Formats: sequence, structure tokens, C-alpha cells
Amino acid sequence: EEESPSIIVHPDYKVAKINDNIYGGFTEHMGRCIYGGIYDPGNPLSDENGFRKDVIEAMKDLNVPVVRYPGGNFVATYHWLDGVGPVENRPKRPELAWLGLEPNTFGTDEFMKWCEVVGTEPYLCLNFGTGTLDEALGWLEYCNSTQDTYYANLRRKNGREEPYNVKYWALGNECWGPWQVEQMTKEDYAKKAYQWAKALKLLDPSIMLILCGETGYSSWDYYVLKECVTWSVHGLGGDRTKSLIDMHSIHVYTADKEHLANATAPRGAERAIQMASALIDLARIENGVPETVPRQTICFDEWNVWDPVRAPGELGAEEKYTLSDALAVAVFLNGFIRQAKDMGMANIAQSVNVISPLMTTKDGIIKQTIWWPLLLFSKYMRGHSVAVNVRAPEYTGRTNPAWIRAAMETPYLDASASISDDGIVSLAVANLSEEKDFEVALQGVTKGEVTVYTVGGENVDVVNTSDEEKVGIKESSWGGEGKFTFGKHSFTLLRWKA
Ligand code: AHR
Repeated sequence: EEESPSIIVHPDYKVAKINDNIYGGFTEHMGRCIYGGIYDPGNPLSDENGFRKDVIEAMKDLNVPVVRYPGGNFVATYHWLDGVGPVENRPKRPELAWLGLEPNTFGTDEFMKWCEVVGTEPYLCLNFGTGTLDEALGWLEYCNSTQDTYYANLRRKNGREEPYNVKYWALGNECWGPWQVEQMTKEDYAKKAYQWAKALKLLDPSIMLILCGETGYSSWDYYVLKECVTWSVHGLGGDRTKSLIDMHSIHVYTADKEHLANATAPRGAERAIQMASALIDLARIENGVPETVPRQTICFDEWNVWDPVRAPGELGAEEKYTLSDALAVAVFLNGFIRQAKDMGMANIAQSVNVISPLMTTKDGIIKQTIWWPLLLFSKYMRGHSVAVNVRAPEYTGRTNPAWIRAAMETPYLDASASISDDGIVSLAVANLSEEKDFEVALQGVTKGEVTVYTVGGENVDVVNTSDEEKVGIKESSWGGEGKFTFGKHSFTLLRWKA
């Protein structure tokens, strides 16, 4: 006889501060993400900069705090100088990641402008493929320097007096991947990343550097952390209050044809955070890193549901997301909240058109199923992560990957909870079951008015199209007493005053 389901929320037990940057975005020069996505000059829906106004509004609604750019794999042959200065002088280049042609009509200054309009912070990824350290230093100088130097003056000449103060810089993207024009061994990467990190921080010690990790638990992850997790190397003996690298990046895409394997797959991403976090500690211990050096966090700078084989459109990237995928996205986000202590940033891949919650057509936008849980998390799951206990039946079928089964529990009810700075508790619950509603005894809820947001649909295969938004948010209220029913295949967010 199964025990009846129950969820206990502990608003007084703060687990960790939630870093707002976990709601970050990612815009790559890939498919229709930049051109025809955020940048669509000539379209009546675009502003005087050529930026799509509907996309800007959507980004503002999502309150996206930081956006990664310009790749992704694209960056491995990208030369930033091609994308600045008078547009008519910018060269067109063959592009080797996605085999397109890069017109360079959208570059650094356009991206910075777009970030300002959206109200988000830029996060730039450096070219570790065909790029040089000189070029990387030049880009940093162009963006951040206030001095009377060549690249800072080039920025001024291009119309921008004030520095952009770009804080986040990634030391390459997926440099381990066989798809890279210059795939690296972990030894070669670590050596290069260490040297580049030193030089970049000499030029601008205020930046945060993101090391290129893999899954979070590979020998690459272990090795590059071991070689690069150290304190700042400035001067004799260095500065033991600063770290050389600040975050470790991991990427996970999940997908499965079967709903439950699909929806539980992001549990593996959560496990990856835990494993990468342990590797950070190990590297710090092995390297004798003093506790005065801030601990490195995880930058989950690509995550989403993606199956390039099933996805239609250019490059197998224009995913049509189902309700099952929306529940998977909720499980990803629950994992980020539960592991808030280790999370420095996360960036959904990607923000527009390419494996994205948001699609553009010539005449408007479509908010896909996965948009809705993401919106609810970004709106309400801020502040601190708080303790929550779940008692619910376990899904015992196949998981993807298979090792999740041994490493993690996969209850049908997947939950996380938070408390905002003004004392509002939010409880996020995904009911992954295709058949069962669960009547749940909820403890820790204040009696009175509880606001309820539900994302659901007829079945787990429904998708949103430009004609019909089958999946959206339904708002209702609940008195906070007795049992609460979480409907089958739905995501629910409940809010109340602590
Ligand atoms: O987000 C799409 C691609 O997936 C990125 O360019 C790359 O980093 C990853 O392999």
C-alpha cells in the first residue's frame, strides 16, 4: 500500500540564494536566431535599429538578466573585428560551424545596443578555434577600456564613448567537441585557458571568466578544473582573495520519444551540477586554494530539450515543443532551484527561433509550450531556495540516460520552492504522470489566499502554433486548507505570503 502523497515546504529553511542569472538567455549566429529573429531590419515589426519589437517585449516579460553571445559553435571561426565599424565595410565570411554565410551586419555594437534596449547584461564567448589571444584582448579592450588606447578609441570612433563593461567572458565553447574546427585535448585546452585567463585579468581584473567544461562529470571537466582552479596570479605570490577563473560551464540537452523518459531526463542535468560541484571542491583541495578565494560556481550556459533528428527547420534546430517538453523544462528549472548554492548562471539554448521557447514569423511571435514554465519560474522563483520534502510514487521505467535510475530519485511529483525577498513563498510542482492526478497533503502553506498558476493541456503531445495556443497559463486561487490536487501532466506554481 503506497503512502499518500505529501509535500512539506519549509519557508524558514533557506537553502541558498538563487542567482538571478539562472534565467539567462543565449543568442547565437545560428539559423534564424540573430538574422530574422532578434534582428529583422525592414520588417514593420522592427524598430529603427532593426530589432524586432515583439521579441524585445518578450525578453522583457521574461526578465532575462544576461544573454550569451555570439555562440556556441559559431564563435570558433568568428573574428569580432569583422562585425564592427561602418556596415558597408564589413566583410562577408563563410561560416564553418553551420556552413552558412555570415554577413556581419550584426556585431558587437548592435548586440550591446540590443542588450541595453532589452535591459539585460551581455556575456561574450571568446574564439578558441581560429582566434588569437591578441584578438581576445582587443575585444576586451574594445568593450571595457576607458583608456586612450587603440581598441578603446576604435569603439569611440564607432560611436560609443562609454565602455560597455562586459563582465562575463567565456574561455571558448565546447572546445572538446569533434565538431569544432580546432578540437582540443584537455591538456592543450587547460594550458591555453590558463594563459588567456591570466592575460585577460591583467587587462581587466573586474571581469568574470568562465572555463569550458563538458558534461560536468567527464575527465575533461576534472582535468581543466584541476589545472585552472587557482587564485589570481597577479604579482608575486598572487592575490589570495581573487580566483583566476570564476565559473565552470556545462552543457546538457535532453530528449526522448517516450514522455516519462523525456520528462525525467533533466534529473541527469541536476546530477551533473552536483558532480561538477564536487570536482570544483576536489580541484580546490588538491591545489590548496585558500578559502579566501571565492568558490567557483556552475555556469550551465546551454540547457534545453533538443533532438536535432526530430526537430524540423534549418539545421534541425526549429524544435516544436510539446507539453512533455514543457514538463521537462520545469524539471530542469526545479533542479536549478534545488542546486541554487552551486549555480552562478544558466542560459537556455537558445532565446529565439533556434531550439527556443520563442519563435518568430514575418508577422508575429509564437510562444511555445516551454515558454510558460520558464516565464513562471523567472517571474516568481527568485530570492532564496527553501527546503521542500516530497513524498510521491516513483517512476520506475526507463530513464534517459540510464544511469539516472541509480543516482537519483524520479518521483512523479518533481518540486522546488523559494521565498522572495518580500516574503512570498512559491512552490513549483510538475506532475509527470500521464494518467494520475495526485491529491496531495500540503504542509507549510499559510491558510488564506493562495494564487495558483497551472500549465497543462489535453495530452503530453500538444504543441502551440501560430493558429492556436493550446498550452498557456491558467490562474486560479485556493484557500490553503485540505488537500491540493495536481492534475495529470501539468505544471503548477502556488504562491502565498509566508
Ligand atoms: O545551441 C546549439 C549548439 O549546441 C551550440 O552552438 C553548441 O555549443 C552546442 O553544441
